[in-house]
Amino acid sequence: MNIIIDFSINNSGHIKNKKKPFSLYYKLFSMSKILIKNIKGLVQYGEEMPIARIGTEMQQLPILENAFLAIEDGIIVAYGAMDEWEGITDWRGVEVIDAEGKYVLPAFCDSHTHIVFAKSREEEFVDRIKGLSYEEIALKGGGILNSARRLAEKSEDELYEEALQRVQKMMATGTGAIEIKSGYGLTVEAEIKMLRVIKRLKETLPITVKATFLGAHAFPKEYKENHRGYIDLIINEMLPKIAEEQLADYIDIFCERNYFSVEEMEEILTAGKRYGLTPKVHVNQFSIMGGIAKAIELGALSVDHLEEISDEDIDAIKHSECMPTLLPSCSHFISIPFGNARKLMEAGLPVALASDYNPGTTPTGNLQVVMSLACIKMKMTPEEAINALTLNAAYAMGIQDTHGSITLGKRGTVIITNEIPSLAYIPYAFGENHVERVIA
Ligand code: NIG
Ligand code: FE
Repeated sequence: MNIIIDFSINNSGHIKNKKKPFSLYYKLFSMSKILIKNIKGLVQYGEEMPIARIGTEMQQLPILENAFLAIEDGIIVAYGAMDEWEGITDWRGVEVIDAEGKYVLPAFCDSHTHIVFAKSREEEFVDRIKGLSYEEIALKGGGILNSARRLAEKSEDELYEEALQRVQKMMATGTGAIEIKSGYGLTVEAEIKMLRVIKRLKETLPITVKATFLGAHAFPKEYKENHRGYIDLIINEMLPKIAEEQLADYIDIFCERNYFSVEEMEEILTAGKRYGLTPKVHVNQFSIMGGIAKAIELGALSVDHLEEISDEDIDAIKHSECMPTLLPSCSHFISIPFGNARKLMEAGLPVALASDYNPGTTPTGNLQVVMSLACIKMKMTPEEAINALTLNAAYAMGIQDTHGSITLGKRGTVIITNEIPSLAYIPYAFGENHVERVIA
């Protein structure tokens, strides 16, 4: 018998199959053959895929009508037009899924999240409704420091269980790979605790997880006047431990006024690189400080946020292999400008989109919401937005060889949509879940 991981949700949004551990599904699935037939449109398919789509190429989105897709042991082994599939291989004993009227896409890659956290922060949300800004709330001791206080009280097990539930919801809306950051610990002990939770997620989830060390998310209160002390703690105590336990793939920093300066970023990222951690940074969320050029000089894989951007910043990205990543649900939620996706694409650059799921600025990991906002508020076309959430997002988290497109040999982590009239219907009919299931 073949079992697939099926995160279909019923109308109330409640997840079925919740009780069985992921690892059990994974084991059963890893011996399976799956054939998806009668697919209305197989999206983002092809061999010799670019590692990312840039500029006007982002308008291209290959779709094969009336198609099939075959997945064996989690890997894409065949696809094509329906009238070609018979005789390709021995598909006796195969799990057959009829996708009549439905689209199949590579699952979305979420290259920027903070899903290990202790508690929601709706009191800050209400403060913003009453007129305070995100930065004003943070200066009063709210924001990241608020989450750090709460995280200190939770056990590794509790944090793991809660993060797992968030991932399950994300998968139900189409996410099939995820980057997760630390950054709510801000002490040696609590940062390591967060990264151990992420490592456990990596080991137990059926989807690819990348871990990012974000010790430089904010200065803890006791180091407010002693930046040197906290930077030394990151460099001399956190980084060696993280390297020893192999807890991170990437290093991040919040380069922003009232957080970390460009010079502080240079020192911390340089130290991280000595331990093999590639930078992926928060930059230009509220202000332009020259952080983009510096991050690129330090070899950043992605520069994320970019709600504020200058021509010099765009020029720096143009001469790099760095992926600019925009986070429209953050802009929406805390009422700041949306990243200028059109300007980036017109300059010949790629754009990736991510959720930024976190309790302060984006309390959702639903990438269909992100897609709608990108289309409506950033004027990205549905094709551009899908490229930004698949191929380009895979690049932004370093998994473009295995994810982001329907290509032979890549992971068969795919979305099957509901019956929908067109692909553009996904961002158009916003607020609904158009994903029937994610196969992982
Ligand atoms: O990406 N800007 C920095 N970090 C997060 C927010 C963190 C928080 O408020 O808890 C972000 O938006
Ligand atoms: Fe973030």
